[in-house]
Amino acid sequence: MTIPAGIDRISFYTTRYSLDLKLLAEARDVAYEKFTVGLGQAVMGVPPPDEDSVTMAAAAAKPILDEVGVDAIELLFFATESGVDQSKAAGMFLHGLLGLPARCRVVELKQACYAGTIALRMAALMVAASGRKALVVTSDIARYDLGSPGEPTQGCGAVAMLVSAEPAILALDPEAGIHAEDVMDFWRPNYREEAVVDGKYSTRIYLATLRQAWRQYAARTGRTPADLARCCYHIPFTNMAVKAHDRLLKEAGITEGRPALIEAAVRESLGYNRQTGNTYTASLYEGLTCLLDTATEALDGQRIGFFSYGSGAVGEFFSGTVVPGYRDHLFTEKHRELIETRTRLTVQEYEDIFNLCMPTDGWEYSFSQYRTGPFRLSGVNAHRRLYEAV
Ligand code: CAA
Repeated sequence: MTIPAGIDRISFYTTRYSLDLKLLAEARDVAYEKFTVGLGQAVMGVPPPDEDSVTMAAAAAKPILDEVGVDAIELLFFATESGVDQSKAAGMFLHGLLGLPARCRVVELKQACYAGTIALRMAALMVAASGRKALVVTSDIARYDLGSPGEPTQGCGAVAMLVSAEPAILALDPEAGIHAEDVMDFWRPNYREEAVVDGKYSTRIYLATLRQAWRQYAARTGRTPADLARCCYHIPFTNMAVKAHDRLLKEAGITEGRPALIEAAVRESLGYNRQTGNTYTASLYEGLTCLLDTATEALDGQRIGFFSYGSGAVGEFFSGTVVPGYRDHLFTEKHRELIETRTRLTVQEYEDIFNLCMPTDGWEYSFSQYRTGPFRLSGVNAHRRLYEAV
């Protein structure tokens, strides 16, 4: 049985600024190869002060809505761990910026980097029942202390997905393997802008969660890695996905030829994340976007495996089948242009931006205009965030 719903369109956005990790390695007196070879990262996306999770989400969603219109959208799920308000859902700002219909359920969802996956699966069930459409948006800024081990894995970006009962891109399978466990591997207390992480422990928990989720998925479906043409992983840094697939192959009892199998299954999904850094909720779907955009072989009719991981921790292994003709519905050229035309910052410029803080005194501020996408955070007034179309 296949859930008759899935991803109808998928669109990715990252900000217009980046930092080459070669410069960061020099500034921090760390071997550049640690970042490129050890972590598998080359560049990180940097959010300017007038962009946040809302503007990135709106920028990711806009090309989809420009194409299909807003009238059929009855549900907006906004998954993020970079929320902008403790009460008002970030999705409400998005609802306004995108001009979504008044008859539209809107909610923000949080479970670290996992929330986009529960959003996608709930949206699929709801649109399958109603025949209407849902917008699922994942958007995050990954931010660690300057000079910390997590710093080179920082990044930013958003992925928007239109979910419909007759998807043009990916039909979701109903089965999933799920594992939840209360652990402290990565978190961000309400009073902090930067995440706190027990780095090495977090990588071990990621892999242990994958093992449990995969075991369940394999038992429920009878599938082996050979049944999955490609695998997309949550990507905190690209080598984590490589390690994850290696673990999955070991778990499936595959002892020979693992490097070539990893290359074939995972490599094509990593290119965008290597250039943007961690995008938390968006990173799994950024990987899928990259795979769809850049796979040399057409993936029509092929089954793809997915592992979604959110620290804290919840993991889910699931799968879906690529819909024949999917290439006609991608935004490949837009994604390529976004990544290739960013303004490259110096370390000093990156640190200056990093150290700018959001005013909290309730006075009126308007923010300097940086290069942004189609929307920006123009200022704050009386504790209200003010957004505008550019
Ligand atoms: N040349 C080549 N490789 C080198 C090297 C060099 N000169 N120097 C070091 N390396 C390699 C190391 O051998 C290591 O590789 P292996 O893992 O394959 O052994 C790799 O580079 C990293 O080196 P370290 O382990 O010494 O790095 P570190 O301890 O300074 O930091 C980290 C690594 C813990 C992942 C850190 O980047 C971090 O804390 N990141 C944030 C947390 C994170 O991303 N966790 C991932 C799982 S949790 C999750 O997925 C949720 C989420 O999104 C955050």
